[in-house]
Amino acid sequence: MKKRLHFVITAGPTREFIDPVRFLSNPSTGKMGFAVACAAARSGHDVTLVAGPVALKTPRGVKRVDVVSAREMFAAVMEAVTPGCVFVATAAVADWRPAECAGKKLKKTEMSDVIKLVRNPDILKSVGGCVKIGFAAETNDVLKEASRKCREKSLAMIVANDVTEKGAGFGSDTNRVVFVYPDGRKEPLKKMSKLAVAGRIVRECENICS
Ligand code: PMT
Repeated sequence: MKKRLHFVITAGPTREFIDPVRFLSNPSTGKMGFAVACAAARSGHDVTLVAGPVALKTPRGVKRVDVVSAREMFAAVMEAVTPGCVFVATAAVADWRPAECAGKKLKKTEMSDVIKLVRNPDILKSVGGCVKIGFAAETNDVLKEASRKCREKSLAMIVANDVTEKGAGFGSDTNRVVFVYPDGRKEPLKKMSKLAVAGRIVRECENICS
């Protein structure tokens, strides 16, 4: 009989505010992460989805926690993870945030040409006691960078995503990815719907945890 797992999944972008009306972010729509949540729930697993600001409906049977910033996502993930759970990090988390967020809208005359940034916490690297699956959105040296992140973040697998490719990466309904393992093994998948990619990821997690 298949083991019932607890999946914690991050999805979407984060927003890092400069003032109440301006922020730093990226083009992630959450489609990839919501697809993983949907596939895991359909396979009978317990699913907690920590979502950045996206315009998507919660898949049936999924517990959703909405967040805005990387620090909020970090706190929500730390609250959600349980010993032995599967953590799948699809979110495009902002690596930096403005050192300060103004309390009111800055007038053009008050704005500096330079914004001082500070690093956000690395959620995936910080999580312990779980099977960790990462994603790597890259524009060059895709497999080399993915392998480096797989080692540095102690992952069971990383999903390498060349975001320069048509029909792959941000915003599309399809994706073309390569599963990269810590022992150097690589499994390229053909281009398919994000839901189909998600199904393959869930099956891989089931194998890893069996
Ligand atoms: O949302 P969509 O529009 O469907 O697009 C999907 C996607 C392109 C966002 C997705 O397929 C993808 O590739 N996600 C990874 C995005 C990314 O930029 O990863 P990264 O290489 O910066 O980070 C590596 C890993 O560490 C990722 O699993 C990321 O979630 C995680 N991370 C990164 C920084 C940070 N502070 N905390 C993290 O947890």
